[in-house]
Amino acid sequence: MKTRVLTGITTTGTPHLGNYAGAIRPAIAASKAADVESFYFLADYHSLIKCDDPARIQQSRLEVAATWLAGGLDTQRATFYSQSDIPEIPELTWLLSCIAAKGLLNRAHAYKAAVDQNTAAGEDPDAGITMGLYSYPVLMAADILLFNANRVPVGRDQIQHVEMARDIGQRFNHLFGQGQEFFVMPEAVIEEDVATLPGLDGRKMSKSYDNTIPLFSSAKELKTAIAGIVTDSKLPGEAKDADNSHLFTLYQAFASREQSAQMRADLLDGLAWGEAKQRLFEQLNAELSEPRERYHQLISKPHELEEILQAGAAKARKIATPFMTQLRDAVGLRSFTQVQVAEPVSKKKAKKTSRIVSFRDEQGFRFRVLDAQGVAVLLSVAFADGRSAGQALKALQAGEAELKVVEQHVQALQAGELIAQSESYASVVHAEQALASVQQAMGAD
Ligand code: TRP
Repeated sequence: MKTRVLTGITTTGTPHLGNYAGAIRPAIAASKAADVESFYFLADYHSLIKCDDPARIQQSRLEVAATWLAGGLDTQRATFYSQSDIPEIPELTWLLSCIAAKGLLNRAHAYKAAVDQNTAAGEDPDAGITMGLYSYPVLMAADILLFNANRVPVGRDQIQHVEMARDIGQRFNHLFGQGQEFFVMPEAVIEEDVATLPGLDGRKMSKSYDNTIPLFSSAKELKTAIAGIVTDSKLPGEAKDADNSHLFTLYQAFASREQSAQMRADLLDGLAWGEAKQRLFEQLNAELSEPRERYHQLISKPHELEEILQAGAAKARKIATPFMTQLRDAVGLRSFTQVQVAEPVSKKKAKKTSRIVSFRDEQGFRFRVLDAQGVAVLLSVAFADGRSAGQALKALQAGEAELKVVEQHVQALQAGELIAQSESYASVVHAEQALASVQQAMGAD
């Protein structure tokens, strides 16, 4: 089975060189592996938590989308979409909100930092804190759990959020899974060998430090930015220590091993900082000029970008929509046309008996019979509408359909037509056990 890798990019700014080297470039490279299925998305619902300027949100969505595509993301392979095009995400967010412990969210770093700041300033602890900020980790859990991601590449500051997603997912499994695991447990992945790029002043490159190097602005602007990199005041001819130079760190992130070794030796030999900056510029410009071209083409055709994102959303929803139906069903939000309303039973008893689940997938309306352990023992064919599925189920429950073992399957036939069947079991004995479970579920014993 393929490993699912999923990550979101908050759309509040213009991607800079640090974002590119630290997140975008490694993610695009990782999406090319044969055993990986990647889900990359614009976390634009998350961006609303940090920004209430619609124009900025819209511009950033455009720029982030164009950056990933210009960087070479293959949207045939990877699933690339906007979070806000997937209505199942806020839907799941609510289901998860109803089971996430408030105490868990009280411990979120971002929320705690905001409270501490307020307290230090002598303000009300919750001054200026929105429910969006507070619930941020629940929305993120929905992003991750909806697609059953195995691996979630994130920065260190996000590890806690992935752990919370595990926590919340586990709780949902426990409360509603009846032995079945709806959600797989995601793991945060920190790319240790991807250096965090230093900015112009040597601190981590970040918009909040105003020390970034632009990614896809013109070659001239790139050159100007590089000229502003802070170095020590050693003169040409003086030996320079590569390990104490963030200019070298930047160079290393874009150069081959050999080129880096050469640069290191040349600095020790007295290479002038001006020369070193020129080399860095050439290196960066060589890597970025082609994607820069593509980026500007994409930005100038926003309707094409929209099409790509819509196709990505459709691909993502092929997974999300039927899964959400299952999750709604699990919590008790089921259509009355498809399910017999069960007699109220105590929770304990309900857990021990088999049950019937109606749902909808890409092919149509179906029902599934689960045994007492929650293992599927019968799956209906896809019906064109909920009514037909309901009628077939009724026929089965009324004993009007024939239930039998054929080879290693359980089959249900109504007027000679196959209406449901089980998987193929390893033996007839297994199939007969499944048949007994189906009969029990149908109230036959
Ligand atoms: N919170 C993440 C960040 O700021 C962005 C994000 C939103 C995300 N949803 C996600 C990352 C799901 C990974 C998985 O970096």
